[in-house]
Amino acid sequence: MNAPLLKLKNVSIRYADHRLDAVRDVSLEVAAGSTLGIVGESGCGKSTLAKCLAGLLPARTGAIFWNGHDITTQSPRQRLNSGVAIQIVFQDPQSSLNPRLSIRDVILEPLRVAGLPTEGIAERLSERVGLPGDALNRRPHEFSGGQRQRVAIARALAGQPSLILLDEPTSALDLSVQAQILNLLLELQAERNLAYVFISHDLAVVRHIATDVAVMKEGVIVEQRDCESAFRDPTHAYTRELVAHLHAS
Ligand SMILES: Nc1ncnc2c1ncn2[C@@H]1O[C@H](COP(=O)(O)OP(=O)(O)O)[C@@H](O)[C@H]1O
Ligand SMILES: [Mg+2]
Repeated sequence: MNAPLLKLKNVSIRYADHRLDAVRDVSLEVAAGSTLGIVGESGCGKSTLAKCLAGLLPARTGAIFWNGHDITTQSPRQRLNSGVAIQIVFQDPQSSLNPRLSIRDVILEPLRVAGLPTEGIAERLSERVGLPGDALNRRPHEFSGGQRQRVAIARALAGQPSLILLDEPTSALDLSVQAQILNLLLELQAERNLAYVFISHDLAVVRHIATDVAVMKEGVIVEQRDCESAFRDPTHAYTRELVAHLHAS
């Protein structure tokens, strides 16, 4: 059997000067083309875990594998050279998009970082994610939250990822815009065989988009299953609580 695209083995993460781990003993696997949902309340460690997966925070203990290769101690630059194809989309495109850059330059940034050709790519991606025809010469603040998230998705795609980390990508958006962005993500996944790690505090959204779900509480994954059975028959008390809340709302 092929190695999973991304695998974590017993990873703990601790912030400098802290006495406790923010994320503790997390093991998970993400297969090519699949979506792992990570769900849990605010402050449980989801973004900390995402930053570690992206190579922005080191693991204190444990190991991270990409296609079976140990990348635990690699810097972002070393990861690029080892073919690790992970991009991130954050919750708040307002603060994650550089306000001084044109949309064209925002989208092309990952290609420039990697020293790759950019000809025609911003045009193609901008159209694919549904931005208006004149978007490329404008700046992030001229766009709505949903359109800025389309820009963030186009930028992620420019890096030719096999996996995109989506950290609460729709949490700041109105419900109808949220649905449009989720549908775009599902289409792109099918077109490009993308894997997603989709982080959300919203169980309903995770249920819509994910194949598997990991439920986090206080820095620990308490339950990890395929999505359908986790929602039908949650085993951990905390998951049961979340599911009951979902049905009640
Ligand atoms: N830069 C940081 N330095 C120190 N502690 C942090 C930092 N960022 C987050 N934390 C702490 O780590 C824990 C997990 O936070 P976070 O990963 O942001 O949770 P979530 O994304 O699930 O809301 C929280 O207790 C938070 O206060
Ligand atoms: Mg977070």
